[in-house]
Order: sequence, then C-alpha cells, then structure tokens
Amino acid sequence: MLGIRYPIIQGGMQWVGRAELAAAVSNAGGLGVLTALTQPTPEALRDEIRRCRGLTDQPFGVNLTILPSIKPPPYAEFLDAALQSGVRIIETAGNSPRNFVEKIRVAGARLVHKCTSVRHALSAERDGVDIVSIDGFECAGHAGEDDVPSLVLIPLAVKALRIPVLASGGIADGAGMAAALALGAEGINMGTRFCATVEAPIHENIKRALVGATERDTNLIFRTLRNTGRVLKNAVSDEVVATERRPGGCKFEDVRPLVAGARGRAALEAGDVNAGLVWAGLTVGLIDDIPTCAELINRVVSGCGRQARSRAPAELPRHG
Ligand SMILES: Cc1cc2nc3c(=O)[nH]c(=O)nc-3n(C[C@H](O)[C@H](O)[C@H](O)COP(=O)(O)O)c2cc1C
Repeated sequence: MLGIRYPIIQGGMQWVGRAELAAAVSNAGGLGVLTALTQPTPEALRDEIRRCRGLTDQPFGVNLTILPSIKPPPYAEFLDAALQSGVRIIETAGNSPRNFVEKIRVAGARLVHKCTSVRHALSAERDGVDIVSIDGFECAGHAGEDDVPSLVLIPLAVKALRIPVLASGGIADGAGMAAALALGAEGINMGTRFCATVEAPIHENIKRALVGATERDTNLIFRTLRNTGRVLKNAVSDEVVATERRPGGCKFEDVRPLVAGARGRAALEAGDVNAGLVWAGLTVGLIDDIPTCAELINRVVSGCGRQARSRAPAELPRHG
C-alpha cells in the first residue's frame, strides 16, 4: 500500500522529523516521515520536501499533527504544500483528520492516522483513512488518557477495524516487531528508537541521554490537564509534574514557560538535556546504542524473523 520494502515507519517527530532522518529511513527500506510543523511555514515545508527528495528516491511521508490551539497553524496550507510537492503518504495525528480526507483522496495519496484508542480508530476508519497507527501507552508524545498499553491495544484495534493497523509505542527491536505482527498488526511505527540513530538531526548528548536512560526515566506531563504527554525525565519535566501536583492544581499558564516548544528545540540542538522538554517513550529502556538507520532497520527485520522462527509453536518445548 505504501510502496515500501519493510513495514517499518518512522513516526512524525517535532524538531526531529527532518530530511536527513526521513531520507535515511526511506533509503533503508522503511518509511521516513517529515514533520510538517517543524517547518516555520508551508513554503519552508516545500523546500524541506525538495531537500528530502535530493537525498532519497524512495517514498517518504509528511506528518501533520492537528492539535487544539488558540492560534492554529495553517494546517490546510501545510497539507497543500505536501500534496502539491508530490508527497503521496500523509500521517495525521492529534485530532480527527476528517476535514482533510477528501483532499488527500483526490490527490491519490494514502492517509495513515495515528491515535491512542480503539474508539478514535473506529471513527477514523469511518472518516475514510487508509491505515490506522495505534499508539500504546508506552509511546513518546501524546499518549492519551486511557492508559492502555500496546499488548492489549493492538489486538483490540486489529479485531475492531477492517483497515490495516500499524503498531506504535514501545517497539524498539526485532522482538517488539515480531510481537506486534503476532498480535495482528501489519507493520510498526517507531519514534524514540529513531531519535537514537546516527542520522537523527539532534545533538549527540541527547542521543547519549536516551541510551543512558532506563524504562523508569520518563515522566507523564499534562496529566491533570487531560492532555498527557510522555517525555524524558529531566529537570524541566520534573518541575512540570511538581507544579501539576501543587495543592489547588495547575493551569496551562503555570507551566507554559517551562514547556515552550522553542525551549525543547534548543535543548535538542544544543545538547543540554535539562534545558527543555525532550519527548521520549518507555523504549529508552531498550535502547543501548546509536546505529545508522540502515543498521537499525536491518537489525529489526532480521531480529523479527529470528524471533518468529525460534518461537514458532513447533519449536516450543513439549510437555508430556
Ligand atoms: C521527539 C519526539 C517528537 C514527537 N513529535 C510528534 C509529533 O510532532 N507528532 C506526532 O504525531 N507524534 C510525535 N511523536 C510520536 C511518534 O511519532 C510516535 O508515535 C511515538 O514515538 C511512538 O512511540 P515510541 O516512541 O515508543 O516508538 C514524537 C515522538 C518523539 C520521540
């Protein structure tokens, strides 16, 4: 459906989903994805797509994250920029892509919608998306409010939906991919794992911090605002959590200066792990090196095959 060799997708990632990473993933046989809102304007997105095309002749996608906002970015114009530049795979997330489905269909593009619950997945299917990427509670970024991890969420989504399901959240290696396929997913989406690769356009210190972190080193922020996000545990996210726990509660205004996107971006670029929010999922516990995207994808694919073969029922120990 997506014209890729391996069903491995690099999900949209604010400040990280740029041409270097997307092209490296696509060149390795997966699907690289540029993040539209990492670019300041739709015009800049057109330039980034051109730059990506200079780095790969393989298909890549564009992520459009539709978040509630007082002053929303011009989503439709970002989408036009992607479609008019010839991008044929769009990943949406954050909110219903309903208003964009027709435009994407008419352009002959595929729409992958990422969400965190079966009910939202069903509504996306009704709205006409082609593929659902279901994000378990382990995931980096907006994890939703239902707290259902992938082991339960994937089979539930597979059972409920007619369209293909991609498993997202908590996957970082071949064993995770094999598990996702065994649960009925057609492929996988990874975010955090792709941040710790040679080509990810973020500072080496941040990559090393991901390698050094354990599965206990993430924080859930914005829980009390019902907009939960999973990020790396650091001075800033600890302070957000502490502010949310203050007696009397917390309004977004109270944490706004801490969580500003510009601060997170500066942290990623300058390599100061404690300077802003660093979005990361529980897979930080599984990540212990910084391979190239090609090494990573080859390893995930061969590890997946190995797991599937070695765990096949015929080879399980026999009892009695
Ligand atoms: C640094 C970072 C930034 C992210 N930014 C976005 C984003 O802007 N839009 C989006 O839809 N998902 C975003 N995500 C989520 C990923 O696309 C993906 O769904 C998630 O990372 C999957 O879980 P995993 O990290 O366990 O692989 C981000 C993830 C990371 C690690």
